[in-house]
Amino acid sequence: MTLDFAPRLIAWQQSHGRHDLPWQGTLDPYRIWLSEIMLQQTQVETVIPYYSRFLASFPDLATLAAAPDDSVMARWAGLGYYSRARNLHAAARRIAAEHGGRFPQQLDAILDLPGIGRSTAAAIAAFAFGQRGAILDGNAKRVLARVFGIDGWPGEKAVETRMWALAEALLPESDIRAYTQGLMDLGATLCARARPRCEACPFSDDCLANRQGRHGELPGARPKKSIPEKATAMLILLHGGEILLEKRPAPGIWGGLWSLPECPADADPARAAASLGYRAETADRCPAHIHTFTHFRLHIQPWLLPVERPLAAEEPGRLWLALADLNGAALPTPVRRILEAIRQA
Ligand code: ADE
Repeated sequence: MTLDFAPRLIAWQQSHGRHDLPWQGTLDPYRIWLSEIMLQQTQVETVIPYYSRFLASFPDLATLAAAPDDSVMARWAGLGYYSRARNLHAAARRIAAEHGGRFPQQLDAILDLPGIGRSTAAAIAAFAFGQRGAILDGNAKRVLARVFGIDGWPGEKAVETRMWALAEALLPESDIRAYTQGLMDLGATLCARARPRCEACPFSDDCLANRQGRHGELPGARPKKSIPEKATAMLILLHGGEILLEKRPAPGIWGGLWSLPECPADADPARAAASLGYRAETADRCPAHIHTFTHFRLHIQPWLLPVERPLAAEEPGRLWLALADLNGAALPTPVRRILEAIRQA
């Protein structure tokens, strides 16, 4: 099985895999890199519109490297995991400065760029340059765990090490593009997490999970731990149809995006507004929102505070934005939803 895994996967990819994804018709490493970064934590259908809009704004590496931070973050807003956008932008600048503006071809140099790990580097090198290298993203882990019956949670070092060794051993000598795409396609289409379509799978006769009826157990689940709950209040300081936004500091949640000022959930919102330099006669409680991150759940209580006047001069890191102009702004998704509700009220 180990011996003919690759030829069977390649044959399956060629006849049954995906061939029309927007990043498949190109060998441009910039476009392939962008797609792989967007696809790291996000599903294909969600990525597609973001991918085309991003390329419309930043059609090549030089344009991205020269772009202001805010315009890059605005194009990423809503896609989540914003360190991806910051790393992408930083990497574009590095490529401009250190690689003469040409995307590097050496695996080590690709791996050295911010935001690119071992699997992503190999995927880019395979798709853009036809280089032979193993990937091990979530889809590949699920396929290998099931076909070869590898127990344990793949996030655990020992399990992951075993999977990397297997992924390397399975690599074909040629057709690395179809092979790499095939692993992703099989994992995304047939070998889905829930209700896999084993009857259509080229490995159904050999797959250990299928033979033993263990799809539900393979790959092993992350050990359960409940995620912490946090609470915050957000201040919607409203004046003449505009609201006050603050730029979030770069490392951390929503770093680089524009968000509402916050205060502790149990604080008096009018006093919090006063500490920012704004007098509010009233504070109206708005509907609460819950936003789930990977590591915690955030309960957001928004407060609407009409304020007398904005400060005369805009301070760095603060911005008055017209509610009519929400669309182009780099806002975290829950903040966008909160403000859209206010705009429509
Ligand atoms: N997930 C990660 N990379 C992908 C790609 N190139 N095509 C489809 N899904 C992917």
